[in-house]
Amino acid sequence: MAMATSMCTNIATAASCLQRSSLRSCEPTSSSVSNLASWQSKSVKLFSNSYSKSVGNGFAKESGKGSGAARATVTVDRELNPEPRSNLDREEENSTSELLCCPICHKPLQRTGPSGLTQNAIRSSGFSCHSCRRKFSNRGDYVDLTILDGTRVYDENTTAGAEIFRSPVVSFVYERGWRQNFARAGFPGPDEEFKMAQNYFKSVQGGVILDVSCGSGLFTRRFAQSGDFSSVIALDFSENMLRQSNEFIRQDPSLANSNIALVRADVARLPFATGSIDAVHAGAALHCWPSPAAGMAEIARILKPGGVFVATTFLTPLPIIDFGNKDIRKAIKGAISSSTLRYWDEAELEELMGVCGLVEYTRVRLNQFIMVSAKRAKE
Ligand SMILES: C[S@@+](CC[C@H](N)C(=O)[O-])C[C@H]1O[C@@H](n2cnc3c(N)ncnc32)[C@H](O)[C@@H]1O
Repeated sequence: MAMATSMCTNIATAASCLQRSSLRSCEPTSSSVSNLASWQSKSVKLFSNSYSKSVGNGFAKESGKGSGAARATVTVDRELNPEPRSNLDREEENSTSELLCCPICHKPLQRTGPSGLTQNAIRSSGFSCHSCRRKFSNRGDYVDLTILDGTRVYDENTTAGAEIFRSPVVSFVYERGWRQNFARAGFPGPDEEFKMAQNYFKSVQGGVILDVSCGSGLFTRRFAQSGDFSSVIALDFSENMLRQSNEFIRQDPSLANSNIALVRADVARLPFATGSIDAVHAGAALHCWPSPAAGMAEIARILKPGGVFVATTFLTPLPIIDFGNKDIRKAIKGAISSSTLRYWDEAELEELMGVCGLVEYTRVRLNQFIMVSAKRAKE
């Protein structure tokens, strides 16, 4: 309750700032914070069928720091130029520009515009799936790869835990007061949590990291600034969190031309090829997902063998008491969880990760805070 009260005070202050803010397309439809939860080719380069060759330099796989740097490329359309696939071709097809796939059929997306996973390249690109006859929207701040992108009539309400973060006010106040309240539950704070995660990700440095449920991008920016990864993909379901992320990125000169791409998607239907991502980070998010099991399965699917997953979430404040009956504990846990927050038992987390094929489970705990890590099993 104390946490909620303090959160409201901080939020009220930040909410009044919002009226003066420049957050684009984020006008609240209600002035009341209590109403938040209700706000709800030829010139086409085929991702699957084309590849890039570095001019005069043989093949060059995008790797290491600063992959956003411009390089001269020649695109060869395989449909027009069928030729036997060499190992080098296959390696190139795995490059960072070819990870995005259709959220419906999981086939590679076709893209018009520059290749690469930088914000500038994504901003000037169009994405479509020929197989599903779908075009996906480029909203400027982010590319929308949700299944329901562009629907006019059909809509789905997710859980309150997911919906609340779609609000412009919550997106605005998130890093300006809301997130700080997690310290009361034991969260060490973004700087310390980032260092801890960075430690877990050592074995996959130089690869592509997905910051799933990135919120306003507090970890996305740190991952990009660290130079530890060739690409940082920031993904969230909330349009306004992505707009806020973009705003923070634009305001930070150290992130000009950085290797960040912003994508809107549902963690339960990730628009990435199977086995294509080196690292996945999910800060303070598992407890908000409508189906943590579907999200975890998707994360396991997209991770490369040996790829690393790191997440933080809230443990139940319930002491580990043996109530003598599993159902009693479950009922009490349900009663203390709110409609917007699912509290976890550590055993649940470990089991869920295990059934999704993640191995080498490890964790750090502090009061209700837990950081868990596991790897995609090697084939
Ligand atoms: C508490 S915030 C966490 C933000 C940030 N990662 C952090 O560590 O503070 C939870 C985020 O999960 C996102 N989220 C909720 N449901 C989601 C879904 N189905 N798919 C992707 N993201 C989702 C919300 O939009 C919100 O930005």
